[in-house]
Amino acid sequence: MASIRLDKLISSSLIVSRKDAVNLIKSGRVCVNGEILKKGDIKVDEQAKITVDGKNIVYSDNIYIMLNMPSGLISSTDDNREKTVMSLFDKSYSDKGLFPCGRLDKDTVGLLIMTTDGTLAHKLLSPKHHAKKTYEVRCDKPFTLEDVQIMKDGIMMDGKRTKEALLEIQNDPCFAKITLTEGKFHEIKRLCYACGQKEVLFLKRITFGGIVLDENLEEGQWRNLTESEIEMLKSN
Ligand code: URA
Repeated sequence: MASIRLDKLISSSLIVSRKDAVNLIKSGRVCVNGEILKKGDIKVDEQAKITVDGKNIVYSDNIYIMLNMPSGLISSTDDNREKTVMSLFDKSYSDKGLFPCGRLDKDTVGLLIMTTDGTLAHKLLSPKHHAKKTYEVRCDKPFTLEDVQIMKDGIMMDGKRTKEALLEIQNDPCFAKITLTEGKFHEIKRLCYACGQKEVLFLKRITFGGIVLDENLEEGQWRNLTESEIEMLKSN
């Protein structure tokens, strides 16, 4: 099994500098297989059970994050004029190559997966893959049963028919959940417009590839994905 220096493992897994990792270790907050280790240069097995302040940490060279994206930011790594989602992260994250897995419009909020894992992002975003995404949508006019059928049948967009979308109208008929299996540019807004020229007043993504937005995250807040969430995305 592969082994790695404890300070490197702590620094990559917690995204802290090597110096901060060494300090954490020295202060006795790091346990390896149940034993407090105080030296950073010790080599440990990558599969060892490691806790920091009693919480399990999983070694990964890659970073996987769930962000509740606030409105007003561009979901890309850089933009000439406007602030991007990267402004929510410390510079060490962009140094490690963090990027958003897909795009949300500037006025959309909700679940955005951020990662350094290009292979996984490529898979999840590939049109062949059909990763499901559910959105909460508020429109200026009530949804109707006819709209359910229009979204199911698909509409012509950029010369192609959109894949079946599931429209679930809520108690307030101006409010609905829409599930897509593709991600065309402005797809929700264009589907709603095709259903009696409805304007989208509010749009929030609440699921992506089986991952559900954590209700405890306020807009602008993020957390690392859990081990099972990462597995879920990988096995998607
Ligand atoms: N569809 C849209 O219209 N906008 C988004 O941000 C995502 C899906």
